[in-house]
Amino acid sequence: MSNEITIARDGAVLRLGFNRPDKKNAITTAMYAALADGLKEAGEDASVRAVLLEGRGDYFTSGNDVADFMSGAAMENDVHGGRPVERFLEAIATSEKPLVAAVQGPAVGVGVTMLLHCDLVFAARNATFHTPFTDLAVVPEAASSLILPRMAGNTRAAEMLLLGRKIDAERARDFGFVNDVVGAEELEATALGAAQALAGKAPEAMRLTKRLMKGSREEILTRMKEEGAHFAAQLQSAEFREAGAAFLQKRKPDFSKLG
Ligand code: COA
Repeated sequence: MSNEITIARDGAVLRLGFNRPDKKNAITTAMYAALADGLKEAGEDASVRAVLLEGRGDYFTSGNDVADFMSGAAMENDVHGGRPVERFLEAIATSEKPLVAAVQGPAVGVGVTMLLHCDLVFAARNATFHTPFTDLAVVPEAASSLILPRMAGNTRAAEMLLLGRKIDAERARDFGFVNDVVGAEELEATALGAAQALAGKAPEAMRLTKRLMKGSREEILTRMKEEGAHFAAQLQSAEFREAGAAFLQKRKPDFSKLG
């Protein structure tokens, strides 16, 4: 298991932490595999009653590791016969245990879309939320193309998913995917306190209520597959080559001669 994902128990709460601060907690395939395994174990362990997702360092996470996109590693199957990112997204979307997130600093890409599957999200005042998919010449993942328009409305979802506008914590609360904005020093206690409160509730009532609230899994998983197919195709495209080169050269991509 990768030590870039920390796994700890706090009573009945399982804490999963992004721990790759020198790369702004960018998530590699090994980290997705560790997250997917952690969520699976949480699902199978009756003593785990809630899961807390958190980031170490100054970023929640800068999203998918762009180098893994470029090397093709992101598209390779692991020993379980699937791509680790897909295993993680499916695990988070179908988790029967309540999920809480504590977001400090920036959340980028999948760092935002995973939050749409959490039941409670707490953000520090310095948190920002950015989904620059169209700048990177890829498409949304985690069924965010379905969930965010429903949650925030089409025009506000377009600000994030089409325009790639970075929003702050208060605006994310207006959009509906952040519960409370707190000072950075209060974040951990607030999020852990909420996770512990959920963990103390009747587990079967919790499981049933969460399932009723989430609605059709089929619809979510179908959309994820659709997004995944477009995502994989885009990684082979000329526009992605330009976006990837721009990332490595730390410049803005130039799409003016494409299409
Ligand atoms: N994938 C891989 N490496 C990443 C990364 C990512 N998503 N985000 C940051 N890093 C790496 C940088 O390459 C850099 O590595 P280096 O020190 O070996 O050069 C290191 O983390 C620090 O990042 P840096 O860019 O120097 O910091 P910054 O404060 O100037 O900018 C970001 C931080 C997150 C704004 C910028 O790195 C960025 O835009 N990253 C890509 C985000 C992204 O597009 N994610 C995917 C969305 S689908």
